[in-house]
Amino acid sequence: MTSHNPTREEAWAILTDHVKRPSLLHHALAVEAVMRHIARKRGADDDMWGVIGLIHDLDYEEHPDEHLRHAPEILRSHGWPEEHVRAVLAHGWELCTDVEPVTELEKTLFSIDELTGLVAAAALVRPSRSILDLPVKSVLKKWTDRAFAGGVNREVIEKGAGLLGISLEELIADTIEGMKPVAEQIGLKGNR
Ligand SMILES: [Fe+2]
Ligand SMILES: [Fe+2]
Repeated sequence: MTSHNPTREEAWAILTDHVKRPSLLHHALAVEAVMRHIARKRGADDDMWGVIGLIHDLDYEEHPDEHLRHAPEILRSHGWPEEHVRAVLAHGWELCTDVEPVTELEKTLFSIDELTGLVAAAALVRPSRSILDLPVKSVLKKWTDRAFAGGVNREVIEKGAGLLGISLEELIADTIEGMKPVAEQIGLKGNR
């Protein structure tokens, strides 16, 4: 198949062919939304950033122990450009691939992937159970509390912020803002 510019509809169809678990779909939607938000802020192509955010964990449910070893062939079989494949691979840099994030898109995906999980966890322990009133400082307070959301790799997030040359505060603020428009779809609208 010749390479083309994948649409959001196509990305969603391919994703939901391979991913059924609601928590992973919520994660995909959260990452997509944050990628779109940061792309718009930077004047970048928010559709491209969003599509890559949506698809980034394509092979995780089917191959949790071989994450990102199967995604490239699936995407190529659908005619996705190498630029997209590379960006997906770069989110696993030093975790399960050796593809270093170099573009702003790649660095952003690498940085926010784990952070969306910490932000979601921080929202769920608020009285409102909502991301809509979540302050940056509530997330920062959980940073060194390793008993809280222990699966979230803080070092990766810090390394990502370093690659982007921005503060952790700014990265957290962008992640919260980006997730707000999809709060309902990802189960973080709370009880208001
Ligand atoms: Fe991943
Ligand atoms: Fe992810």
